[in-house]
Amino acid sequence: MNKQQIGVVGAGTMGQGIAQVLITNGFDVQLFDVAESALERARGAIGNGLEKLVSKQRLSGAEQQAALQRLSTLTALDGLAGCRVIIEAAPENPELKEQLFRDLSALAPNAILASNTSSLSLTRLAAVCDSPERVVGMHFFNPVPVLKLVEIIRAEQTSDATVAHIESLTQSLGKTAVAVADMPGFAVNRLLVPMINEAAFLLQEGAATAEDIDTAMKLGAAHPMGPLALGDLIGLDVCLAIMEVLFEGFGDPKYRPCPLLRRMVSAGYLGRKSGRGFHCYD
Ligand code: CAA
Repeated sequence: MNKQQIGVVGAGTMGQGIAQVLITNGFDVQLFDVAESALERARGAIGNGLEKLVSKQRLSGAEQQAALQRLSTLTALDGLAGCRVIIEAAPENPELKEQLFRDLSALAPNAILASNTSSLSLTRLAAVCDSPERVVGMHFFNPVPVLKLVEIIRAEQTSDATVAHIESLTQSLGKTAVAVADMPGFAVNRLLVPMINEAAFLLQEGAATAEDIDTAMKLGAAHPMGPLALGDLIGLDVCLAIMEVLFEGFGDPKYRPCPLLRRMVSAGYLGRKSGRGFHCYD
């Protein structure tokens, strides 16, 4: 087993960002996705991310080349068997994640299995694994190369050794870890996504335009971007899924998803990734 070799499952936005941060910090990464086209897109996005760092003189040309050489991509999950840590960043689908954890737990019996899930129960994921003490939440924030936080979520079954390993990995990526209990939305999403949902209510009620709601929070609360633009960045389908998890998990009506948010997701207006959300994107 190679201690410096880390598997990343899922080459979407989060998987790409996680892989980029790992290779720039000296880890060898095996990036897995079922679709070769997703891996190609990821290689392009990671290349662009490293290019930004070179243009800001935070990375030399030689370091950029070395980082890219540490990235391998694969479409066969069993290629992850030799990894010390595997970070899962697949879509937020409970059945998909449970099947992945079952498979990963069998093919890499000594690896730490970390999930970047933004809302699902780590305890439930751990329960499908042979040795649930090596399952933990490692929740990154988008854009991963820029945002410094990682929430570390301990399932009921997670061992101290697993948590200590992930804390130390987080530190070696130049990020700060906070420990959060395994409850719906953890800390950041429980605060952030209801704010986005409330901004959708404001828009639905005609209280202000989308532009003005965003300007209000940028200039009135010093947020780097407004809540509706942030919803578009996260993905409105992801925001809706998180609101559903909060609503169901706490049984509290204060987490009811905004009907406008539901309609937008039904219409396929998912934010930046679909070219249209609360704002339009070219
Ligand atoms: N790789 C490396 N560097 C990158 C990068 C990448 N992929 N993308 C951006 N950067 C760098 C840029 O080069 C730039 O560097 P400098 O500051 O040195 O110029 C810096 O990051 C900022 O980027 P931009 O200039 O392009 O953009 P900006 O200043 O307008 O900031 C933003 C954009 C970082 C997205 C900022 O608006 C922001 O932080 N917004 C809030 C994002 C947020 O709240 N995210 C959390 C979402 S919740 C979540 O992710 C969890 C979940 O489960 C849903």
